[in-house]
Amino acid sequence: MESHDDLASGFQSVDRASDFEVFASCLTLIDSLPFFAECKRESYDLLAATPGSTVLEVGCGLGDDAAALAGRVAPGGSVVAIDGSQAMVEAARKRHAGIAGLSFDVADATRLPYEEGSFDGCRIDRVLQHIPEPASAIREMVRVLRPGGVLVAFDNDWETLTIDSANRAITRRILNAWCDRFPSGWIGRQMVGLFSEAGLGDVEAHPKTLISDDLDVADRIFSFFATADGLVTEGAVDREDADRWRDELQAADAAGRFFTSYTGFLVSGTRPEGVTTAAV
Ligand SMILES: C[S@@+](CC[C@H](N)C(=O)[O-])C[C@H]1O[C@@H](n2cnc3c(N)ncnc32)[C@H](O)[C@@H]1O
Repeated sequence: MESHDDLASGFQSVDRASDFEVFASCLTLIDSLPFFAECKRESYDLLAATPGSTVLEVGCGLGDDAAALAGRVAPGGSVVAIDGSQAMVEAARKRHAGIAGLSFDVADATRLPYEEGSFDGCRIDRVLQHIPEPASAIREMVRVLRPGGVLVAFDNDWETLTIDSANRAITRRILNAWCDRFPSGWIGRQMVGLFSEAGLGDVEAHPKTLISDDLDVADRIFSFFATADGLVTEGAVDREDADRWRDELQAADAAGRFFTSYTGFLVSGTRPEGVTTAAV
């Protein structure tokens, strides 16, 4: 049965989920972690948005990054932030009402309702992983960039997720299941190729690795135990094996030796001058 509520598959259609707060609180938790704050700051620097610039933020979620960018383009600039979820856009509008030059729209990343060449910069943060056809979203973002404009994306590669456990077989099953629940769980390694195929030049990729020894926080972001429980329900993993795996990780955590890591990639590219989208 298709689920709209888990963090891996649910972000592609948040408005169909039964509990919006699950998604909103995940974004708030991520925003509170220094690793993501640093990735975001670097992405703003790569975008090189200056006062007067026009920026498109795609898949804006609760809108905090769009609000930060609005500060960088002021005075005289503008940030248009879009999200496919009406509920996200409503929450973002409420959180960031009255910021000069900042507006929010409901729109799909694969069908942007803007003219070719409308923006100096475009940013997308942990959204492509949720889109089954990320290449079409990238082509759309390139289309709405002006020649010389910059696209910056941060996204995850879920097959880089590690956990130190005595049981390799069950760890692999759970981590692979998590990766494969994303519409585009390998987007991290695919972005460089997709940026080049979409006609962007000067494509650069910066790997960013998060390491954590905090099982509670990691489980709230990476859904280890919910994924294991899902596999038990599907009959793919025995209940006793899943319980032993959970007990082992909790014991490691209590002993201060829990380890998990994953790598995301910060990728940027520039739309070449003097090339129309027919060629890109
Ligand atoms: C993991 S959240 C990231 C939100 C935000 N970029 C951040 O860094 O907090 C993914 C967001 O992408 C949105 N999204 C998913 N698929 C989309 C699509 N096809 N078009 C536009 N937004 C989409 C979701 O509604 C959600 O708000």
